Amino acid sequence: MPAISEQDGESLGLESRQLPRHIAIIMDGNGRWASRRGFPRIEGHRQGVNSVRTVVEESTRLGIEQLTLYCLSSENWKRPALELNLLMQLLKKFVIGEREEIMRQNIRFTTIGRRSDLPKDVLAEVDKTIRESQENTGMQLCLALNYGSRSEIVDAVKSIVSEVEQGNLKADEIDEEVISSHLYTAGMPDPDLVIRTAGEMRVSNFLLWQISYAELWVTETYWPDFSVSDFWQALRDFAARDRRFGGLKG
Ligand code: IPE
Ligand code: IPE
Ligand code: MG
Repeated sequence: MPAISEQDGESLGLESRQLPRHIAIIMDGNGRWASRRGFPRIEGHRQGVNSVRTVVEESTRLGIEQLTLYCLSSENWKRPALELNLLMQLLKKFVIGEREEIMRQNIRFTTIGRRSDLPKDVLAEVDKTIRESQENTGMQLCLALNYGSRSEIVDAVKSIVSEVEQGNLKADEIDEEVISSHLYTAGMPDPDLVIRTAGEMRVSNFLLWQISYAELWVTETYWPDFSVSDFWQALRDFAARDRRFGGLKG
């Protein structure tokens, strides 16, 4: 079945089975986008929200099962308070402003990350969007908020150890499935494709366990400039990759 997507008379040219089930994006370069134009960094974050809308809408149209967006890392708290405050306001505005669109697109909204460190008012609006969209049956949109893969693994280890201590799990029953099911991403498929904008060749503490066999795709384009045609290029390159998972060419 061809994936339904056309733009200016051009079509993506891929079949649904060639598309990733789960796409994860490291949305980087907002600050550089703004600095280049002589704007404050926050202007880049503001523009970045438009790229989020574009990618969410296109992913829904293509029938992608899950889209995970890295919005704030556990290390981003090192940034100036002003930038962090404005980021929080932007996030709150996004979850309120996009609620209707999330419902219209039948999207199930979720988050990963250490929620307790987020401001209460932001968390309340995030949770409202999660609740209202939880019965939706379309794409799962997952925002990584105050997310760090290492702290996720620490949290998983603590919770596994406590189950062992309580006698609900034996140490030798711990396997990859048990670990996966204790991560924030429990129940989600692993990402097949990781997109990073703004050119850095690193993963910056994002989904370390889950991306073991993901295909990595990096573009120099800054996140606020990321368009449907960049997204299509990533998808076409993904479709052309030979995923071997440690085996031999299929
Ligand atoms: C990514 O853009 C967004 C967040 C980390 C919140 P940056 O703010 O990291 O932009 P650059 O990397 O400084 O250009
Ligand atoms: C990764 O970008 C985090 C997000 C996109 C939210 P950073 O800008 O924080 O990553 P580094 O510092 O370049 O590794
Ligand atoms: Mg950055």
